[in-house]
Amino acid sequence: MKITLLSLLILSSQIYLSHAQKCNPQDKKVLLQIKKDLNNPYHLASWNPNTDCCSWYVVDCDPITNRINNLHVFAANISGQIPDAVGNLPFLESLMFHKITNLTGTIPSSITKLTRLKSLTISWTNISGQIPSFLSELKALTSLDLSFNNFNGQIPPELAQLRNLTGLRLDRNQLTGSIPESFGELTPSLQYIYMSHNQISGTIPKGWGSLNFTLIQLQRNRIEGDVSVLFGKNKTVDQVDISRNLLEFDFSNLEFPESLGTLDLNHNRITGSLPMGLIDVENLNLNVSYNRLCGRIPVGGRLQELDYTAYFHNRCLCGAPLPECN
Ligand SMILES: *[C@@H]1O[C@H](CO)[C@@H](O)[C@H](O)[C@H]1NC(C)=O
Ligand SMILES: *[C@@H]1O[C@H](CO)[C@@H](O)[C@H](O)[C@H]1NC(C)=O
Ligand SMILES: *[C@@H]1O[C@H](CO)[C@@H](O)[C@H](O)[C@H]1NC(C)=O
Ligand SMILES: *[C@@H]1O[C@H](CO)[C@@H](O)[C@H](O)[C@H]1NC(C)=O
Ligand SMILES: *[C@@H]1O[C@H](CO)[C@@H](O)[C@H](O)[C@H]1NC(C)=O
Ligand SMILES: *[C@@H]1O[C@H](CO)[C@@H](O)[C@H](O)[C@H]1NC(C)=O
Ligand SMILES: *[C@@H]1O[C@H](CO)[C@@H](O)[C@H](O)[C@H]1NC(C)=O
Repeated sequence: MKITLLSLLILSSQIYLSHAQKCNPQDKKVLLQIKKDLNNPYHLASWNPNTDCCSWYVVDCDPITNRINNLHVFAANISGQIPDAVGNLPFLESLMFHKITNLTGTIPSSITKLTRLKSLTISWTNISGQIPSFLSELKALTSLDLSFNNFNGQIPPELAQLRNLTGLRLDRNQLTGSIPESFGELTPSLQYIYMSHNQISGTIPKGWGSLNFTLIQLQRNRIEGDVSVLFGKNKTVDQVDISRNLLEFDFSNLEFPESLGTLDLNHNRITGSLPMGLIDVENLNLNVSYNRLCGRIPVGGRLQELDYTAYFHNRCLCGAPLPECN
């Protein structure tokens, strides 16, 4: 009798447990494969085959379908490559590998099977090689972050085919070549773009004049020519950093939107004088040091409140906060 009761109890608890397992068996199989391919890292110790994978560390299940929709691996002591098996989690919407210095190799092409993927972050890793053009097949992407890796070669022109992007980060790699001409027709939904700290050369695409960015970071590259198309009264730009490049254009007649916050153009070859319109920008945080500017700093707005280092090392800028003009 006791034995029967006990076995009943065990049986019912097993039934209960299997009902409580929300996890999709196929997803569980794939996750265990990923764990194996990453050499069973301590970071994934909670990925126990006997438990519900929806409760595992660094993954989430969709509350309705119970399919794995997020996989966010970060700050992990993991060595090796991104497993091909990540492409077999068809309901993934967000995939992240962040701050894993021992993650090497390239991005596997199996990732293109993730047709629902909205956010892809591979950052602060040692992943290298060219940025693969097949990423342009991930049409649902709204955010692509490949910053702080060892990517080299040119930016693939195909990335401009990602029409739902709101943000793109390619900063802190070793990218070379110029910004592809196709990037002149990036989607109007794009709000921010980071390409700083690379070895990008050439000019910015002409089409950037009709885009509606709020943030552009291109500092520490070898970009040359004129970037005045980024400015104008009808723009919505807030933060622009193109410092430490080879820009060469006349600054004198530019107009700026009221939305402008940060404008950092230090260490370029910009000529002309400071435009009067700068005094109307309420929250301006300007740095035009180390250029070839000349003439009196307009009086008004925030211009006299800025530190003199925002203006120093120019050809002949003068007036507060720099010394008086002769
Ligand atoms: C990372 O894992 C390896 C192998 O498991 C181990 O030898 C090493 O000490 C770990 N490093 C850190 C920083 O935890
Ligand atoms: C990276 O790998 C090296 C050598 O295998 C190991 O000593 C180190 O602890 C690992 N570091 C991290 C943060 O994973
Ligand atoms: C990762 O990159 C860092 C810095 O770029 C380097 O010092 C380190 O040796 C690399 N580790 C591996 C495993 O490639
Ligand atoms: C792109 O965004 C629109 C609007 O949010 C959405 O209807 C469409 O399904 C998205 N495209 C893809 C491929 O996900
Ligand atoms: C701003 O105006 C220019 C010329 O009038 C136009 O080509 C551009 O598309 C406009 N930009 C925005 C963001 O409205
Ligand atoms: C530009 O972006 C701003 C803020 O995101 C938005 O309010 C505005 O309608 C956009 N303008 C155009 C022309 O797309
Ligand atoms: C402007 O940039 C220069 C060069 O990087 C720097 O030395 C200076 O501190 C900056 N000044 C301000 C006010 O940002």
